[in-house]
Amino acid sequence: MLALLVLVGARPAPGKPQREAPPRLADTGLYVDPGARTLTPGIRTWTPQYPLWTDGATKRRWILLPPGRSVDASDPDAWIFPVGTRLWKEFSFDGRRVETRYMERGADGSWLYATYRWTADGSEAVLAPATGVPAAVRLAGGSAHDLPSTGDCEACHAAGRTPVLGFSALQLSPDRDPLAPHREEPSADAVDLVSAVRTAMVRRLPRALLEKPPRIEASSDLARAALGYLHGNCSSCHDLRGELASVGLDLVQRVVPREGTGPGSTAVAVPSRWQPAGAPEPLLRITPRQPERSALLHRLSSRAPADQMPPIGTHLVDDSAVQLVRSWIATLESSTRVSAPLVER
Ligand code: HEC
Ligand code: HEC
Repeated sequence: MLALLVLVGARPAPGKPQREAPPRLADTGLYVDPGARTLTPGIRTWTPQYPLWTDGATKRRWILLPPGRSVDASDPDAWIFPVGTRLWKEFSFDGRRVETRYMERGADGSWLYATYRWTADGSEAVLAPATGVPAAVRLAGGSAHDLPSTGDCEACHAAGRTPVLGFSALQLSPDRDPLAPHREEPSADAVDLVSAVRTAMVRRLPRALLEKPPRIEASSDLARAALGYLHGNCSSCHDLRGELASVGLDLVQRVVPREGTGPGSTAVAVPSRWQPAGAPEPLLRITPRQPERSALLHRLSSRAPADQMPPIGTHLVDDSAVQLVRSWIATLESSTRVSAPLVER
């Protein structure tokens, strides 16, 4: 718990104050006409194939690149976004808009994180305090949704290989996973990997990834969906290229695989440092065939503050993910090839 507080709560770095975010969503450039909510020309929408679970929120996302600039995809697993890139993500519960999150890459290369809270009548969205707003909206069933602090934004977005988590080769692949939990159908005008390259939004993507769009190579459809869920929901932090590398758990699906990384090497049959109180014998992170003896499933299924995974951003267990990951672990043989490459242990 202490480790978590230190790792998750310790930002922003001292001496590096965040740039100031515009006071209203209307000032971020999302709409040409805030009244009618007409989007600024050039703004594109997309739908990642493995979305983040936020207690059942529905989401819409937009991206705007500066004129004539492109995303550099020469490292296909860590795209570089040009200075001036703006991204938005809108959250609704029960059909009501609650917040719109905003990221912008500044002239010095650093990222600004902010969120805008919609007024109850839905007429405008105003900058939320950087400390966040606990229980900003009550949800059906007695739970509540918190607007995250900017420290929380950074705990997920600034901890790993790239700050932009859902606009990536795997997330935009047209070879979409039909079993992905909470999958959303992209709208007709949504960008995917092929159209992003064709319209020069994205440049320098290795050709092979266009000829054969990326997909998770797994032993079964179930495994593909489970690994995709862990990538979408956990890999911002659990990334051997990131700040939590010392935890040693890597839940990233790379389109260019690297030896010794991924769930197959760092989770399956690997001892866990985390143990539930009173466990008769130590748990592995993932014990093949034995979901109940897998620390990863315990933590995915928990919302006790010291145990829950992800540690922030959600109050409700994602039941469909728990079911999926449980079924996947139950089918694993000790020798199952989990994801390429598997390093024999
Ligand atoms: C629990 C981790 C987590 C927290 C906390 C979080 N995000 Fe995200 N965010 C994600 C993930 C994962 C995605 C991509 C998947 C998706 O969109 O469903 C994403 C997507 C986004 C996007 C679309 C661009 C992208 O990276 O794909 C924006 C904009 C965004 N978040 C802004 C914010 C801001 C601003 C905050 C804080 C106010 C915040 N997020 C807090 C995990 C998080
Ligand atoms: C915001 C960052 C963050 C996200 C997102 C996140 N984790 Fe974690 N996770 C941590 C930190 C920090 C630790 C180490 C401290 C601890 O064990 O609580 C950890 C530890 C763990 C461990 C124990 C590892 C060990 O030592 O054996 C497991 C298992 C785990 N996480 C699973 C998950 C899963 C599954 C998800 C996605 C559903 C997830 N995490 C998402 C930050 C994160």
